[in-house]
Amino acid sequence: MLYRYKVLSLKRPLLNGLWRRWRGRRGDVVGSYERLPEYIRAHAPGHSFADIGCMWGINGEYSFIAEAAGATSVTGVDVFGPTPEFEDKRRSRGSSVRFVLGDITRADTLAQIGQSDVVFCAGVLYHHPSPFDLLVALRRICRETLILRTSTIPEIDGLPNAAVYFPMLDERARRLWNLRSLGLLHQAGISSEFEPADGYGNWFWGLTPSCLTSLLKTAGFRVDFRATEAFAETVVCATVAPALHHRLPDELEARQLAEEISAAGIARPA
Ligand SMILES: C[S@@+](CC[C@H](N)C(=O)[O-])C[C@H]1O[C@@H](n2cnc3c(N)ncnc32)[C@H](O)[C@@H]1O
Repeated sequence: MLYRYKVLSLKRPLLNGLWRRWRGRRGDVVGSYERLPEYIRAHAPGHSFADIGCMWGINGEYSFIAEAAGATSVTGVDVFGPTPEFEDKRRSRGSSVRFVLGDITRADTLAQIGQSDVVFCAGVLYHHPSPFDLLVALRRICRETLILRTSTIPEIDGLPNAAVYFPMLDERARRLWNLRSLGLLHQAGISSEFEPADGYGNWFWGLTPSCLTSLLKTAGFRVDFRATEAFAETVVCATVAPALHHRLPDELEARQLAEEISAAGIARPA
């Protein structure tokens, strides 16, 4: 119940503003969507750059910012497009930004993109039903640095790593996560019912910041910088390990393992 009040309060612009000031005074970096170009300009120069989910409403702008900042090569990726606006910008700037039409969680798309030093991904993670798989996909194409911005939900005191799955919530439950009061006019699957035909257009997961951090670590990233907001996080991460991978034994090895487990009598119905 208390958590409900926390969320409702943070959705009120005045209280949200006070919260931002309080977090700033506490020494936290308080983030905003407008600061994304700053992070791109800080990390792109002299590096190859990939922008995952580059198109909706932005027409590849972050890819062009990376190119103008001195990225050595730039690849923009999306499940639709390129838009005419993207093509116009590419032409007028004499740009060599490469566009890949693909789904970042598909192996053939990863092969097409290849690896980049810096991977940028904003506004995509909460649109995927399997956020861990998406982060692992980002890890596969990322050599050094991940810049990720995503919607989140406020931390639940006493319940670290919690998350909310939005699809199938009834109208009343969805209302809590509707951010219209903060200027978000449409959140598919929240401000309207979940629509399977809309695929990734839907909002799937409300991750708490602690859950996001744990997922990033499991996917092989270390969070080096965090800019926080009541309903979003921007993180800059370093690649520090391979993503978690469950190795499948070959048939002989699997049989031996099965014999050992049976002999030890350690497998009991859960
Ligand atoms: C909310 S928009 C964010 C656009 C831009 N990055 C920004 O921050 O303003 C999400 C974008 O990601 C794309 N997208 C969603 N799921 C994707 C996936 N699995 N692979 C590649 N692109 C995806 C969408 O088509 C859309 O262009």
